[in-house]
Amino acid sequence: MTVKVAVIYYSATGNVHELAQAIKEGAEETGAEVRLRKVHELAPEEAIKSNQGWYDHALMTEDVPEAQLEDLEWADAYVFGTPTRFGNVSAQLKQFLDTTGGLWFQGKLADKVVSGFTSAQNAHGGQESTLLSMYTVFMHWGAILVTPGYTDPVLFESGGNPYGTSSTDGGEGGPSEQELAAARYQGKRIAEKAALLAGSRV
Ligand SMILES: Cc1cc2nc3c(=O)[nH]c(=O)nc-3n(C[C@H](O)[C@H](O)[C@H](O)COP(=O)(O)O)c2cc1C
Repeated sequence: MTVKVAVIYYSATGNVHELAQAIKEGAEETGAEVRLRKVHELAPEEAIKSNQGWYDHALMTEDVPEAQLEDLEWADAYVFGTPTRFGNVSAQLKQFLDTTGGLWFQGKLADKVVSGFTSAQNAHGGQESTLLSMYTVFMHWGAILVTPGYTDPVLFESGGNPYGTSSTDGGEGGPSEQELAAARYQGKRIAEKAALLAGSRV
């Protein structure tokens, strides 16, 4: 059985998008089928156009499909990404999560493997609180949280965040090689654990 993974993210200026792509690559290394999906943008066009980096990234990712609830039904495992916004999940990703009430009510989000990743400007800018806020939703779903922990040396090399891949945007052009390696590892780990679980389902 081929494991199906949905990587669903919001990114304004591209950092989370780069991590999402690395997570996709890692999951695909295991033979998993992966859907990379951005969530719907909520910000007004004037706001996006007032920030060149935001506008450029929006144009660059025009062809990335938007996440649909059907992607959640389809996948065995989800990896969600968001920029840290005041130590919390971006409104755009939260809005998508808030549309999942119907699926939750039908029990369709229970027992799915789930994990998260984020990017913030500062090393201590709220990466963990962002991931923990996101994970609260998954606990309500009854999903099975699979975090990186310290299960591979790559976690220490990338800053040592056991909650989920985190990048620190020091203004040096996106996530570091170590952070991208941690993201690839997280994608691989999530796909492997989803495969274990899928194999045990009757
Ligand atoms: C409204 C807003 C709030 C933010 N809050 C934080 C924060 O609490 N801590 C932090 O370190 N960075 C914060 N940032 C910076 C972003 O998290 C950071 O630039 C991130 O890498 C952006 O990811 P993206 O390029 O995928 O959009 C904030 C940015 C915005 C626009």
